[in-house]
Amino acid sequence: MAVWTVYLSLCLLIALSASGLEPGKDYKVNWEAKSLHFDCYPEAGSDQAKCEARGCIWEPSGIPNAPWCYYAETHGYVTSNIVETASGITVDIERNTDFPSQRSQSRDISKLRVEITFLSGKSLRWKIFDPANARFEVPVPLELPSTPETEENNRLYRVQIQNKPFGIQVIRKSSEEIIWDSAVPGFTFSDQFLQISTRLPSNYVYGVGETEHPSYNHDLNFHTYGLFAKDQPPGYKLNSYGLHPFHMGLEKSKNAHGVLLLNSNAMDVTFLPTPALTYRTIGGILDFYMVMGPTPEAVVQQYTEIIGRPVLPAYWSLGFQLCRYGYANDAEIADLYNDMKAAKIPYDVQYSDIEYMERQMDFTLDKENFKGLPALVDSMRAEGMRFIFILDPAIAANETKGSYPAFDTGIEKDVFIKWPPKLSDDIVWGKVWPDYPDITVDNSLDWDTQVKLFRAFVAFPDFFKKSTAEWWGEQIKDYYNNVMKFDGLWIDMNEPASFVHGTVGEKCLGDQTLENPPYMPPLESSHRGLNHKTMCMNSEQILEDGTRVKHYDVHNLYGLSHTKPTYDALLSTTGKRGVVITRSTYPSSGRWAGHWLGDNYSRWDQLLKSIVGMMEFSIFGIPYTGADICGFFNPAEYEMCLRWMQLGAFYPFSRNHNTINMPRQDPVAWGSEFAAVSRDVLNIRYTLLPYLNTLMYEAHAHGNTVVRPLLHEFVTDENTWKIDRQFLWGPALLITPALDPGVTVVRGYVPNARWYDYHTGEAVGVRGQFVDMETPLWKINLHVRGGHILPWQKAENNTHYSRLNPLGLLVALDDGGSAHGSLFWDDGEGIDTVQNKRFLLTTFTVSSGVLTSVVPTDGLAEADRLTLGLVKVWGVSPRVTRVTLSVTGQPDADLPFTYNAEVQELQIDATSQSHTIEKPFTISWNEA
Ligand code: NOJ
Repeated sequence: MAVWTVYLSLCLLIALSASGLEPGKDYKVNWEAKSLHFDCYPEAGSDQAKCEARGCIWEPSGIPNAPWCYYAETHGYVTSNIVETASGITVDIERNTDFPSQRSQSRDISKLRVEITFLSGKSLRWKIFDPANARFEVPVPLELPSTPETEENNRLYRVQIQNKPFGIQVIRKSSEEIIWDSAVPGFTFSDQFLQISTRLPSNYVYGVGETEHPSYNHDLNFHTYGLFAKDQPPGYKLNSYGLHPFHMGLEKSKNAHGVLLLNSNAMDVTFLPTPALTYRTIGGILDFYMVMGPTPEAVVQQYTEIIGRPVLPAYWSLGFQLCRYGYANDAEIADLYNDMKAAKIPYDVQYSDIEYMERQMDFTLDKENFKGLPALVDSMRAEGMRFIFILDPAIAANETKGSYPAFDTGIEKDVFIKWPPKLSDDIVWGKVWPDYPDITVDNSLDWDTQVKLFRAFVAFPDFFKKSTAEWWGEQIKDYYNNVMKFDGLWIDMNEPASFVHGTVGEKCLGDQTLENPPYMPPLESSHRGLNHKTMCMNSEQILEDGTRVKHYDVHNLYGLSHTKPTYDALLSTTGKRGVVITRSTYPSSGRWAGHWLGDNYSRWDQLLKSIVGMMEFSIFGIPYTGADICGFFNPAEYEMCLRWMQLGAFYPFSRNHNTINMPRQDPVAWGSEFAAVSRDVLNIRYTLLPYLNTLMYEAHAHGNTVVRPLLHEFVTDENTWKIDRQFLWGPALLITPALDPGVTVVRGYVPNARWYDYHTGEAVGVRGQFVDMETPLWKINLHVRGGHILPWQKAENNTHYSRLNPLGLLVALDDGGSAHGSLFWDDGEGIDTVQNKRFLLTTFTVSSGVLTSVVPTDGLAEADRLTLGLVKVWGVSPRVTRVTLSVTGQPDADLPFTYNAEVQELQIDATSQSHTIEKPFTISWNEA
């Protein structure tokens, strides 16, 4: 409590000095009261009269961003009729009529039902809805326990209902901390404005997207983030491509919990110094899910249990990838491939962006500039490379020259989004990339003129409909069979993005309160309406069960609805699991796809922001993520791009990509020194791919994070709660990149454990401290945590070859000489190998000089077996004189080894034994 008061005073002092007020006792007293001031007039243009008309209190404040118009203490709803059962609580609530209707623009719903369900011992749900009239509810199927937890003693939490104002309190029983407390003023439930606030148990809150954040832990000084899927490059307080109303919070007891608001309307979230947060959404219902952890990793495991566990990407998709928007022709790609090969820089995936298409139309091929592409794809694939092509959802509609099957069959099957029938039976036309036939595009004209003159009409498929998913799958299959092969798909512009606002002609039919709602969250260009750069909100979509819904309610689900049909089509077309990356995401998108962080900038600040973004997508259940290495917009610069190649070598999704008309920024574009640094760092990535792949399996099977914030492993150490300039791969690899120009020393935290320098194998002498790490230009700091065993393989030009190498183990001993780890291995691209147990899982432990393997699952085909190679053991202090390999039923074999006393590294070479690792083994070294 004392720490808490000190923090509040500190915040006050900072705020006061920023506002020019003298710090003093009076302000301190005021602050305690103000910490419960919830904004009653979040729109622009508030004044005393407007504030008081809402029944709120007007009081100017010198604290930056603090609300001047705030709710009276009991503003909200009051409870009646609380019914408690073993599986939950039901409450009726009613608007407190002491206060005028809060929003005359939007019809208040005075009587509501609250349903609290004890989903499990570690999770609960509270749903607040109108019992008299059904409202839109998010049609995303969740994986909820089939029966609630009815045994009180099995629940980590207790729930209390507060009456005036109505609020729900969730208490963690072990610490008696209230971790959710919505018994605060301002709860509102009206047709197009729903608001709920909660106090938070600490100042440490993470997540809520998709929007760029300057740090991983949120700044709680009254910051509001608008959330609405938009073709909007990430920028400060700008709503980007997807929607993730999920956060993880830490508690004073150092436990963690997570909260999802399952709502798909445009919304905003405000972080307050109380500490508290406020959600405001403009439709649907309030449907919350809370998971109790208590560790940060457990939070993500429990969250992904509900929204669905992440997809297992193909092994090759963990390799390095190259892309560029605006390759001139296939020869340019062929040259790039040859140069990469000659420079021996590992790389697995080549992309082609929209330029491979004829006039940017899906499922076509530019027969002039890219006529050689199908043959190039075949020849590269024959050398173990993979190809990914881009697909946008919008389908061109102005083909005058013969037929365009994608559009024609789409019309036949009625797949495109239309107006509500009572207004029109026409398609809601937009414009995106496709050009009209028979025109010459003049790029020197301004953007609006180009859109007007050159861009064809497009129709947006309604991917909720089963028939659309089938039609989409047929287009993909036809293309693969008749035009060109591919291994993965990249789906873009699926917010959906449009270059006209609403529709061609920019006049949306019907209810204008959908386009310009009475409350508009603070979104990019919100003054231009919700349909800015997308389709009309009154467009009608049809759910799988036939329910007709407004785009207004499902806009944020468009990307998700596009993702599963694409993934299904990829699998059924190629017969392999491949990978899909998608731009627009929603909770559960990770089940089908990964996500890149969008159109970033070639700027130094973007390196840090990419770490923050990856950590956020880690807790959103989308572990296969990364940013465009070296930046998308603007020309990259040598040192920045080099440092970015080093950082990007540790993105799970590792792709260098930039936009049209920018200079090249691939690793062979900068000269031999750059190529050498890129090769070295990518060789490290490739060496560790068996470890990364095992982490991906653990994400898929158990919901563990891959890119892991330090606080997930060291939550009792408060130093880790703010760290976002470093991250972990799983529990065991600490990555401390250089993120600023001109640095050769990076300050980084060495958490409290034994760590080894990856580059030398030497133990780091310090722990639980910030240290300066020498980071010359060629180097990224990497440390391996004692107590862990990492599987590895020698790197090759691509994973097709590296997968054939013997399996190595990197054993980093802890203080007690022990370590453990595991390996997941399958054929790398089979469908449902985990579900069908067609994989090998081996666990390794070391203790007292004996390495033992145990094989819990062996369903691997013979062709995919691995032999044991080099075992490196770090932290072996006594001199070693003999090493033996024992396998049941075979005589013990002596293994050759070397021991480096200075570094304390033992290297054991098991290669000569050709021992395949699905057979359990032990390796013992005597310690003289
Ligand atoms: C927008 C995407 O974010 C970008 O990565 C891509 O290059 C362009 N669209 C062109 O397709």
